[in-house]
Formats: sequence, C-alpha cells, structure tokens
Amino acid sequence: MKVAIVGASGAVGQELLRLLDERNFPLDDLVLFGSTRSAGRKYTFKGKEYEVKLLQHNDDFKGVDIAFTSAGGGTSAEFAETITKYGAVMIDNSSQFRQDDDVPLVVPEINAEDALVRPRGIIANPNCTTIMMVVVLNPIEKLSHIKKIHISSYQSASGAGAAAMEELIQQYKELVETGEVKTINKFPHQLAYNVIPQIDKMMDNDYTKEEVKMFNETRKIMHSDVRTSATCVRVSSLRSHSEAVWFETERPLSVAEIRDALKSAPGVTLVDDPQNYVYPMPLESAGKDDVFVGRIRKDLADDNGSTLWLTGDQIRKGAALNAIQIGEYLIKVGNIK
Ligand SMILES: NC(=O)c1ccc[n+]([C@@H]2O[C@H](COP(=O)([O-])OP(=O)(O)OC[C@H]3O[C@@H](n4cnc5c(N)ncnc54)[C@H](OP(=O)(O)O)[C@@H]3O)[C@@H](O)[C@H]2O)c1
Repeated sequence: MKVAIVGASGAVGQELLRLLDERNFPLDDLVLFGSTRSAGRKYTFKGKEYEVKLLQHNDDFKGVDIAFTSAGGGTSAEFAETITKYGAVMIDNSSQFRQDDDVPLVVPEINAEDALVRPRGIIANPNCTTIMMVVVLNPIEKLSHIKKIHISSYQSASGAGAAAMEELIQQYKELVETGEVKTINKFPHQLAYNVIPQIDKMMDNDYTKEEVKMFNETRKIMHSDVRTSATCVRVSSLRSHSEAVWFETERPLSVAEIRDALKSAPGVTLVDDPQNYVYPMPLESAGKDDVFVGRIRKDLADDNGSTLWLTGDQIRKGAALNAIQIGEYLIKVGNIK
C-alpha cells in the first residue's frame, strides 16, 4: 500500500501524518507533496525521513493507492486528474467536489458504502463542522426523522489552517507587547478578544459559504431532506470547533431516549452532567478522536424540538481522521487494489 499526502506541511497534512502512525495504517510506502514553499522540507514518519516533493503534472502518482489531499480546492481541482490517472483513490479534504453527483461525500459512521461508487476515483471528505454535527445527529435520526436543524457554531482559529493558528497567537502577543494588533491576514478582522460571524466567503443570499455547505452536505451525507440553517462564527479558541444545535424531529423525543442513543453511538462520547459543571469544551476535545456531546435538553420553543452542545477536534474527526477512516474502510472491505 502506497500512500500520498498532498499538503503535508499544513494543519491537516501534519495531522494525517500523526494519525497514520498512531493508527498503524497498513502502508509500505509514503510520498509527501507540497508547493514550492514546502518542497524539500523533511518529515519523519516511523523513524524514516521523507522529503516533500513539489506537486506537478507528471507521473509521480503512478503506484500510489490512496492520496489524501488537503491543499485547498484550487489545488484539488487542478491536480485531480494527475492524481487519479493511474488508479489512486483521491480522498479530498477540500470543498471542491463535495456537491458533484459523481463524487461520494462520506462519513464512515453514516454512509461508508457510498465510498464504493466513485466514478472519478475521488471521495470527498465533508466540511468539518458538518461531519461533527452529523456524527451526533445520525443516531437521533434513527429514533425519529430530523426535519429541521438550527445551528450556531463556535469555530477555532485552526479551522483556517496552520498560519491562522499562528496569527491568533501573534495577535495576543502584539496586544501584550504594544497594546494593538498589527497582523490581520487570515481573518477579515482581529480575532484576539473578538468573535467574527463570518466563516468563508459571503454568498448572494447573505449566508456564508460555510453555512451553505452545512445545508447541502448534511442532506447528501444523511440521504435526507432535512433543512439546516446555520450561523457559523469564528471564536478565539485555537483548536476544536463547538456547535449549539437545535433540531426538530417528526415525533417528540425524550432526553433519556437521546442520551441512550448517543451512549452507544460510534465516534461519540457523552459528557453530560451539567449540574456538576460537566459538559464538553474545546480545550478537552482537542487532540481527541470522538465528538463530545452534552447539554442535552428539550427545546423550550418547539414541542418536537431538542437541543444539545457538541465539540470536537475539527482537524481530527473534521478532516484527517475522517479521511483515514474512509481509507481504512476501503481496505477492510477489499475495495482497494
Ligand atoms: N484546518 C481545518 O480544520 C480543516 C478542516 C477540514 C478541511 N480542511 C481543508 O483542508 C485543506 C487544507 O487545510 P489546512 O488547514 O491544512 O491548510 P494549511 O495549514 O494552510 O495547509 C495548506 C497546505 O496546502 C499546501 N498547498 C497549497 N497550495 C499548494 C499547491 N499549489 N501545491 C501543493 N500544495 C499546496 C500547502 O503546502 P505549502 O506549505 O508548500 O504551501 C500546505 O501543506 C483545505 O482545503 C481546507 O479547507 C481544513
């Protein structure tokens, strides 16, 4: 099994490397790619050094079985053919192909089988905020169909990449040293001591692209007609996104039923003892695999509604881990050469 990582120097690329090691992913050879900025840099994997190659239109992907790509949508669009032309399965973290009919959009806990039909050799990894929400909502969907979702997200700086995480740290440093923020590149405004109600670009309907992704991707992954209305917000945590989620089911659900369904759900950990200050928080979910859920209660404004709070490491389950789990599934069912 030969594995490629495109975007190895990035936040997701580095997590892919850590997880391939941690999970003992069955690979015999590894090849790393980047742009001119990181080409030539070396990373150690299982005691061996690997040098980042420049991603180019050539035959470098000959013999590659799985390519994990996390180098932005433009790079994925430009290089998809080069990456897949010799049969590599491209598991793509960007949003480039997610809504294409001939590209499956997969969260293994929910729709793993969709990954088996991939006419273009591409499987899309969904948006991070959506992945974490559907992992929690899918077990509830099995109790009663979810018709509507309202969600407000609290997304960490690292969701915008490694440089964005550095920028937040730099902003706090500048505030301490000079009293004012000088570095604002990755976010539209100062993030330190602030929250920014915009993630990704603004669309014509005044929803952001991130919010539109949540509407569309939830339906595609869950094979559902559910309608999701989101407000996605950048907060000044470094790692792990959180979400306040309200949902309306066809029949009213009790809190006990929801707790029971979530207790045994794959990829979910219940952390729900609010009277004793116990609920999920990003500082605790950072670096962990599961999505943590708590504050489960009835919606006071909707008889068929319930509400909960979740948090999860978006670089792990929201990106690298989910992609690797797709690869593991393909290997398990013998669907990869
Ligand atoms: N961060 C998250 O939480 C998260 C979650 C889900 C999905 N994603 C998606 O994953 C992708 C990567 O995100 P990230 O957070 O890891 O970003 P990042 O930290 O900014 O890293 C970007 C990576 O892409 C590489 N790259 C950029 N242009 C390239 C090109 N032309 N050719 C080859 N490599 C190129 C960079 O390599 P150089 O260093 O050489 O430039 C770097 O390794 C994005 O599509 C993002 O939307 C991110």
